[in-house]
Amino acid sequence: MVEEYMEKYPSRIALIGFMGAGKSTVGPLLAGKLGYTFLDLDTLVEERAGIQIRQIFSREGEGHFRELEIEALRGIKDTEKLVLGLGGGAPTSPENQVILQKYFFTVYLVCSFEEFQKRTGRDPSRPQLLKTEEQLLKLYCQRLPIYEKLGEKLSTEGRSRDEIVQEILTRLDST
Ligand code: S3P
Repeated sequence: MVEEYMEKYPSRIALIGFMGAGKSTVGPLLAGKLGYTFLDLDTLVEERAGIQIRQIFSREGEGHFRELEIEALRGIKDTEKLVLGLGGGAPTSPENQVILQKYFFTVYLVCSFEEFQKRTGRDPSRPQLLKTEEQLLKLYCQRLPIYEKLGEKLSTEGRSRDEIVQEILTRLDST
């Protein structure tokens, strides 16, 4: 079964979407079904920097984090049999958009702003959550068209992780 998937499906699948969309919960499950490796771009950035994302934000600023994100994505763009979860802001950089369009089949996991708030609360590991609700809503609205441009839209609300994975597999079948 796994071999069948490996031949049939694109070699690199990216999961994008706003914080809390489920990229890092759905990603490993999807990778398991496909016999692919799951990588989380945030984790790669943290490993390369040797510090946590919130520390990168507070010490070096968001701009530096975005540069590290670009470097990390560039470093794995040729990896085969990969499911990659990207941080919510990673698809906003033009460099990353080019890489996604050229090297990845991209799925946009959609969740509403209200659902994002419910799912993430005030998680201290996510520096963006230090922003006000108004700023976050602005960020959410700015990013939606970018996610829509880059990925196959897939709603996550009211669906279990398994259902979402199944839906992605169905979409992959028709690529
Ligand atoms: C960010 C989202 C985070 C992480 C960083 C910045 C963002 O990833 O990359 O904290 O700008 O939306 P998740 O989307 O996995 O929370």
